[in-house]
Formats: sequence, structure tokens, C-alpha cells
Amino acid sequence: MKYQSQKIAFAYFLVAMILFVVQVSGGLLAGWIYVAPNTLSEILPFNIVRMLHTNSLIVWLLLGFFGAAYFIIPEEAEREIHSPQLAYLQLAILVLGTAGVVVTYVFDLFHGNILLGKDGREFLEQPLWVKIGIVVAALMFLYNVSMTVLAGRKTAITNVLLIGLWGIALLFLFAFYNPSNLSLDKMYWWYVVHLWVEGVWELVMASILAFLMLKLTGVDREMVEKWLYVIVGTSLFTGILGTGHHYYWIGTPGYWQWIGSIFSTLEIIPFFLMMVFSFVMVWKGRRDHPNKAALLWSLGTTTLAFFGAGVWGFLHTLHSVNYYTHGTQITAAHGHLAFFGAYVSLESRHLHLCVPDPEEPRSLQSGAQHGQLLADVGRHGVHDLRADVRRHGADAPAARHGAELHGRAGSARGVLLHALRRRRGGCSRCHSVRLCDPGASARGHRGGRQVEAGTG
Ligand code: HEM
Ligand code: HEM
Ligand SMILES: [Fe+2]
Repeated sequence: MKYQSQKIAFAYFLVAMILFVVQVSGGLLAGWIYVAPNTLSEILPFNIVRMLHTNSLIVWLLLGFFGAAYFIIPEEAEREIHSPQLAYLQLAILVLGTAGVVVTYVFDLFHGNILLGKDGREFLEQPLWVKIGIVVAALMFLYNVSMTVLAGRKTAITNVLLIGLWGIALLFLFAFYNPSNLSLDKMYWWYVVHLWVEGVWELVMASILAFLMLKLTGVDREMVEKWLYVIVGTSLFTGILGTGHHYYWIGTPGYWQWIGSIFSTLEIIPFFLMMVFSFVMVWKGRRDHPNKAALLWSLGTTTLAFFGAGVWGFLHTLHSVNYYTHGTQITAAHGHLAFFGAYVSLESRHLHLCVPDPEEPRSLQSGAQHGQLLADVGRHGVHDLRADVRRHGADAPAARHGAELHGRAGSARGVLLHALRRRRGGCSRCHSVRLCDPGASARGHRGGRQVEAGTG
């Protein structure tokens, strides 16, 4: 952890993990009620348990996104979060709101009261006062992270992450519009539910994935950014009109059958690309990062997301198939694997990156870092050697030997200086996660790419 304010992420992750326990307990209880329908039927009926299950899921995933943003943004923008106090206040509001939802639903408080009572729209059941609280917390969050990014370094990762987070907040505003016409109600409801998980959440997912790939594999930022742009483009192109796969049977015009079927089928593309992206990056990256857990979670997430969201989604997305599967256990099974694959495991993997494994001996970590340093010294040496051999003539063994020694010594010094600079808050010239080429300032600095050019 390079910046103090990255600590905020841990508070968010902690609350998220507590809600995860609540969620799985709710799921187990709901499953048990399927088997023994009268269980707790008076005290905690199925509809309330189900609400606790799905809402705790959404809230903890959002807390995880906020936490991830508070961790990633300082490192990408190269500065502390604008106001850590505001971040903790935001968390307090969200915790209060969550507790408010649970108490209101379990005890059915303020029954029928528009502002304080329960609302009853799947996933958006929060009483109105909690929804307002969520908007206030979201505004605080967006102000805080946007100010940090605006004052610091702007990268493709922070840009995509911010667009995703702003999108989440703006689309949530449709939760306030609750028309009495059921068709219209459902239409706007999907603006939040579908455009979240198959639109703006995907942007957050892709940017967190890109950040992790950069950190874990040491591939070039440029390459990661290219993938990120293609993934974002295909997500939005397919996901927005893909909303049509929910408009087949709610009273909307018939053309949605075709628009929904075609565009939602294409929604597989961004999930497929994310899977290929993670495997290609791990394959191309030369860094042997000691945090194997985070690396494996990265590959596992994109694979599970591809199957849960992409393949399982496609299975029932054509209108002719959906006619038979709509609202069945196929839907619930897809919902589970898609949410788990794409978002639950995404956050598990980010958690693994942020929280180092306590079992992992320190010496192993520092040993791996030391190894990386030595490998880089070697690479820089070979690079300078080649340059000197070119200059003095390739056939002169003495020149080559001298150049080798000279190159290694010079590069080692450069690498050490670079390591010191990074310790003090990052190399000011390059943003490569890998050590950059220490001799590059004289030749025009090009970050990690220089090393690649040298090693061929
Ligand atoms: C032991 C673990 C779990 C059990 C036993 C369980 C069980 C259930 C049950 C019984 C329902 C209600 C289905 C219905 O209304 O007919 C449900 C809904 C749901 N659960 Fe779980 N769940 C578990 C874990 C999870 C996890 C980890 C996630 C997220 C990744 C999740 C996401 C959902 C979603 C999104 C719904 C709503 C599905 C829909 O609307 O079709 N559940 N779960
Ligand atoms: C990570 C991304 C995704 C998540 C988290 C997700 C989650 C869900 C959930 C929870 C539902 C049930 C909603 C409800 O009625 O309560 C659902 C429905 C549906 N999803 Fe997804 N989904 C994702 C991606 C996709 C993709 C890519 C496709 C298509 C290729 C797809 C196709 C569908 C369809 C057709 C339905 C409606 C099922 C019905 O008619 O009952 N989903 N999704
Ligand atoms: Fe959808």
C-alpha cells in the first residue's frame, strides 16, 4: 500500500464481508423454506428473507466497488484521496441505511408510509428515506473520487472506473420513478437492474480487471488500455439495446423481440473478451508475482463470468427460448452464477490483492521482489551491452566484455536509483509497474517498452 488513504478500502471491505455472511445465511434460509415451506412463516416469511438475500448482495457488492475505487484511485492518480473523512462518513450513511432497511422489513415498521415504510420492488425495496440516503452517499463518493482524479494523473483505468461509477449513480435515479402502470414500472425498473449489471457494472469490472492485470502480470499499460477500450465499447454497444431481452412479455412493442434477441446475444462478446484478455495478459506478462491467489482469482472470475453471464445468459436470451424459460429456475440459476462469476469473485480477487496472505512468509515476498530486481538488472545489462557492441563493433571480444561490465554496473546503479525513487512515491517519469529502463532519460523515456526493445 503506497498511500495512507488506501486504508479506507479495508473499512469498506470489512462491512462488505459482514453483509456477505448475512446474504449467504439468507440464501440458505430461503432454500430451506423451499424444502420446508412453513419454516418461520410467521416471523420471517419467504418474501422478506428473499429481499434480505438479494439486497444484502447488492449493497455489499456496491461497498466492494467503493472500496476498490478507494484503493485503486490513489495509486492510479498518484495522490491521496481528496477527503478520507468524507469517505468514512459515506460508509456510516450506507451502514445506517442498510440497518434501516433490515429493521423496517423485519418488523414491518411504518406500514404504508411513503417516506418511511417498505417499498416492495425487487432489488429496489429500500424505503424512500434510504434511497435518498443512498443518493447523498453516492454524491459524496463521486465528489471525493472525482476531485482526487481531477487533481492527479488521469489514466484510462481511472476514466473508465469513473464513468462506470457515475453511471451507477445516475441510473439509480430511475429507482425514484415508480409509475402505477405495471408495464412502464417494469420498463424503468430494468433501466436500473439490467443497465447496472450488463452495462455500467461491466465498466467497473473491466477497469478493476485492467488494474489487476497491470499489477499482477507486469504487462505494458498501453496493451492493457487497448483491451480495456475494446471491452468497454462492446459492453455498451451490446448491453444498452440488450435490455430488450427483458421486454418480451411486459407489453412493449413486438420489435423488442428481435432487438432484444440480437443485441443480448452479442453481449457474450465483452465477457468472452475479458476472459481472453486475462489469459493473454498472464501468458504475456513476465512477472512472477508472488500473490498467486489474486492471479488465480483473476482467471477464475473471467471464466466464471463468461459461463454464468455469457453462456448461461445466451441459453435463455432468444425470445423463442425465453417464452418457455421466463421466470423459472433457469433464470434463478443464471442469476446466481452470473452474479457470482462476474462480481462476487471480482471482489474476492481484489481483496486478495489488497490484503496480503498472512500465511505467506515475508521472506518469500521479498525474495520474489529481489529476484525480480536481479532479473531486471540482467535485462538492462544485456540491453546496454547490445548498444555498446553496436557502437564498438560486434566482433571485438574485448569491447564486448568491457561493454558488458560497463553496462551491468551502470544499469545496476540505475535500477537501484529507480527502486529508491519508487519507494519514495513512484518514478516520476514512467508509470510502468515493472521497473523502467534506468538509462532511458538520455534516450527519451518510454517506460517499460524500452526494456522490451532491448531484450527482443
Ligand atoms: C448457500 C448459498 C445460497 C443459497 C442457498 C441461495 C438461495 C437462493 C434462493 C432460494 C433464492 C430465491 C429464489 C426464488 O425466488 O425462487 C435466491 C435468489 C437469489 N440469489 Fe441466492 N442463494 C445463495 C447464495 C447466493 C450468492 C452467493 C449470490 C450471488 C452471487 C446469490 C444471488 C441471488 C440472486 C441474484 C437471487 C435472485 C434471483 C432471481 O431473481 O431470479 N445467491 N437465492
Ligand atoms: C454479469 C452479468 C449478469 C448478471 C449479474 C445477470 C443477472 C441476472 C438476474 C439476477 C436475472 C433475474 C432478474 C429477475 O427477473 O429478477 C437475470 C435475467 C436474465 N438474464 Fe442475466 N445477468 C447477466 C448477464 C446476462 C447476459 C450477458 C445475458 C444474455 C446473453 C443475460 C440474459 C438474461 C435473460 C434473458 C434474463 C431474463 C430471464 C427471464 O426471462 O426470466 N444475462 N440476469
Ligand atoms: Fe439483462
